[in-house]
Amino acid sequence: MSDSETYKLVVNGTVRQVLAAPKTLLMDVLRDQLRLTGTKDGCTTGHCGSCMVIKDGEPVRSCLVPMKRSDNAHITTIEGLANGTLHPIQQAYIDQGATQCGFCTPGFIMATKALLDKHPDPTLAQIYDGHKFNICRCTGHNAILRAIQQAAGQPVAALPAVKQPLNAISHPLPRPDAVEKVTGAGIYADDLYVEGMLYARALRSAHPHALLNNVDVSRAAALPGVVAVLTAGDIPGRKDCGVRYSRPQRLWRA
Ligand code: FES
Ligand code: FES
Repeated sequence: MSDSETYKLVVNGTVRQVLAAPKTLLMDVLRDQLRLTGTKDGCTTGHCGSCMVIKDGEPVRSCLVPMKRSDNAHITTIEGLANGTLHPIQQAYIDQGATQCGFCTPGFIMATKALLDKHPDPTLAQIYDGHKFNICRCTGHNAILRAIQQAAGQPVAALPAVKQPLNAISHPLPRPDAVEKVTGAGIYADDLYVEGMLYARALRSAHPHALLNNVDVSRAAALPGVVAVLTAGDIPGRKDCGVRYSRPQRLWRA
């Protein structure tokens, strides 16, 4: 990169020098250069909070922070939280069943850490405000709320009453892989790095309704570093999008 500059970061207490373009995202440096893949890339547009880290004491979505605004910054990532034993916030997320697929969990935990550093006994409004940039699509936000309350030493909201509690249902049970989820150690497809790996990017049409008659990839294919440009023409066989039935389906038995 011709416009690369050297930046100094203090990440989880360790000084790191990195070479990056000024516009390179802090998230990409943490993940791709420092291999701190606990910081997740869920959207790259600031909408999900999975990339949340603490920068100079403030929670930030690291996909919105370019390196030119990060020089000399002190960064805490999920990998810097456990100190031999799990941080109480991490333990609370496990105890309350507040992690499922775990993709959002590091970002949520970093938001909780930043909140409790400032407000050790937060009000409900402060809890909501402190996590307003985080989205979880699978655990359900009530379990996360209970985890935050436990971490803050507050009474934890009761679980909905059930008529007949079962052994494994209606109790918050720790997942077998919960520790990986709350420490950011879990490896997802996006966290795999292979020597010489190629990177692919999907380019979608800018027009929601249009008939695509032709795609000219010649200029893109000629760019330095581009190995291949694939279009529908490279995919053999029938190309369908969405659900398509070739004959009437019987959906249920009478
Ligand atoms: S990846 Fe940064 S907010 Fe989604
Ligand atoms: S645990 Fe899956 S998105 Fe939150």
